[in-house]
Amino acid sequence: MVLEVAAALVALGNLTMKGQEQDPNQSVASRVAEAKADPSRPTVHFSAPAQWMNDPNGPFFYDGWYHVFYQHNPFGERWGHMHWGHARSKDLVHWEDLPIAIAPSLDLGEEHVFSGSTALTKDGKPVIFYTSIGPNREPEQWAATPANSDLTKWSKHPHMLTQKENGTNVAEWRDPFVFWDGGKAYLVTGGGRMGRGTVELYTAASDDLLSWKHLGVLFTYPDSDVGNIECPNMAHIGKEWVLMVSVKGKVEAFTGSIKDGKFVYRARGAVAEGSYASQVFQNTGSRQVYVGWMKTENHKAWNGYLSLPSDMGLTKDGHVTLRPVKELGSLRRAATLADLENPAEIMGSVDGSKPLSLKLCGFTVSYDPVSRVLRTDHRTVWLRSPLRNLHLFVDASALDVYANDGEGVLCDTLPERGETGYELTGLGDVKTWNLAPERG
Ligand code: FRU
Repeated sequence: MVLEVAAALVALGNLTMKGQEQDPNQSVASRVAEAKADPSRPTVHFSAPAQWMNDPNGPFFYDGWYHVFYQHNPFGERWGHMHWGHARSKDLVHWEDLPIAIAPSLDLGEEHVFSGSTALTKDGKPVIFYTSIGPNREPEQWAATPANSDLTKWSKHPHMLTQKENGTNVAEWRDPFVFWDGGKAYLVTGGGRMGRGTVELYTAASDDLLSWKHLGVLFTYPDSDVGNIECPNMAHIGKEWVLMVSVKGKVEAFTGSIKDGKFVYRARGAVAEGSYASQVFQNTGSRQVYVGWMKTENHKAWNGYLSLPSDMGLTKDGHVTLRPVKELGSLRRAATLADLENPAEIMGSVDGSKPLSLKLCGFTVSYDPVSRVLRTDHRTVWLRSPLRNLHLFVDASALDVYANDGEGVLCDTLPERGETGYELTGLGDVKTWNLAPERG
């Protein structure tokens, strides 16, 4: 931590990017009507009001609100000019869009504000941690602290953590995530060393969480064909830690504990197949709520959305389970199968000794009892026990499948909203609801 730099807080007054004609918030606003009019755009799932979004960033609960930030290109429907978009919600379901929280400081040689996390100091002050990308320097970890009480303005603390100071040489060093364990704050980053994906561990060296000391490599990805880890993040479930890493388009969870600065795991498995760059809401007590990025690339005026917020749990043998948050129930409107529209929610039991094939507004869901593989159009998951129940959400071009009380989860997306109609043969004790969309 360079003290001179710590003192130099950079106020985020004017968000207009040099070289960009438009203010980023105005640029987003100018595409909202077009994004809203697209029937393929999910309305139950969270997405940016318009334009491109990818990873969720720094979701946390504070002062009665759930906040979510996200990787955002305000200037287009493709990746670029990374900013942090911002929204808040009382219930994880109904979201209020807020102005862009963090923009690149071009005057400081910053081109992109990459992914990161939010944590609270011991005395409850929020701090954002993110990777600052500049065209003429190595990635650095920067911080930002609130400049107003509703968290819509943030002051940057540039150059908070650099590899030069720590004498490390991690490739693709990014995506800081901060967590508390045993009264101490720790920070992890992704990247790779000598061609292997690694997670670095740091400990806080000051109470304001703006100064960090490198402790070493917390975790090396077990498979040698993985050279880089993105978005490491930790969830405390029961008495254990779950380390989630994003690798080759998938989120993988390792369940275990930290011993002498190393992560030792007893279980490993994919989480919410189809989602990427996971984050867990911070400051939610014993509750751990998962969100991930759902990638789309072909839409006009918008791309990308978040997987449905889901409560995390663990099976006895340490595998992560996900269940849609109960707050989603507020969107339910009674509907029979014949009345079922899109978006909709469906629950039912299954005889896991028989094959199953469902059709849901253009999506297919099938199950093979011999291999125990559950399949959607683009995703598969192997179930550890025969299929016994399904909990399904159809939302425009988005599908979420929770199998066996969340032991297997698939998130899928079609290039566009499919045809209408549901074929649910083989599903027993069926319950169906239309969902009142939370956003226009
Ligand atoms: C993951 C990721 C992160 C990076 C961000 C950039 O999708 O590549 O590693 O910080 O997206 O937008």
